[in-house]
Amino acid sequence: MIQPVKPTPTSLRETKASGRRLASLTAYDYPTARLLDDCGLDFLLVGDSLGMVVLGHPDTTQVTMADMIHHTRAVARGASQTLVAADLPAGSCTTPALAVENSRRLRDAGADLVKIEGGSECLPAIQAILADGIPLIGHLGMLPQRVLEEGGYRIKGKSTDDAERLCADALAIDQAGASAIVLELVHPPLAAAISKNLACPTIGIGSGEDCDGGILVLHDLIGLFPWFRPKFATPLADVATAIQNAARAYSRAQASS
Ligand code: KIV
Repeated sequence: MIQPVKPTPTSLRETKASGRRLASLTAYDYPTARLLDDCGLDFLLVGDSLGMVVLGHPDTTQVTMADMIHHTRAVARGASQTLVAADLPAGSCTTPALAVENSRRLRDAGADLVKIEGGSECLPAIQAILADGIPLIGHLGMLPQRVLEEGGYRIKGKSTDDAERLCADALAIDQAGASAIVLELVHPPLAAAISKNLACPTIGIGSGEDCDGGILVLHDLIGLFPWFRPKFATPLADVATAIQNAARAYSRAQASS
């Protein structure tokens, strides 16, 4: 049997030209990556959202490079045909040299691309990572790594100043050579305008229907984190209930045997 060939990160930019929408989900472990590997996704993201949905932290700010490397290795073992992207966590890119060093560590753990949160203030780090030959995804709009400074998760780009800043940041990251840019909680008309203006694809999350693709935290799609679900995510399964039903049935069977 001929094994499918893993695409390269450049295929993400090429897909935009073809007009096909990109689809991505997060993955944090081997079995999930293996299950998702032949589901037609363009990339699996080892998101620092693992801080919340896997490690039980209140937000992503405490996720470390060690956490990201550990989970990236597991996902890379399970993803033979799908690109793996891994988040550079909070504090991992404070200088361009540190950003390159940490990107190399994620690449060595199995990531095909790294993702970095931030706009023009991160441009030197973004350029250094790309100059080092490591493909990269940008992340603009709501930046979960800055949720404590920002005081919550809010839609970005409603004011003219904010919209102009986001457009300029997106263009700079695109022109630097990013493979894609995640737009998180960006005012939908602005997300549509940014998407039209860039050569690289935009991957929306909570940013309307007019990005070049979409991404969701897997747990929000499959109902595996019932304690919190963002408004924009519609679960297509109820895995939390399935787990509890199976565990309760087992526990009852044990008690009565
Ligand atoms: O960490 C993550 O899962 C992400 C996605 C929500 C885009 O950054």
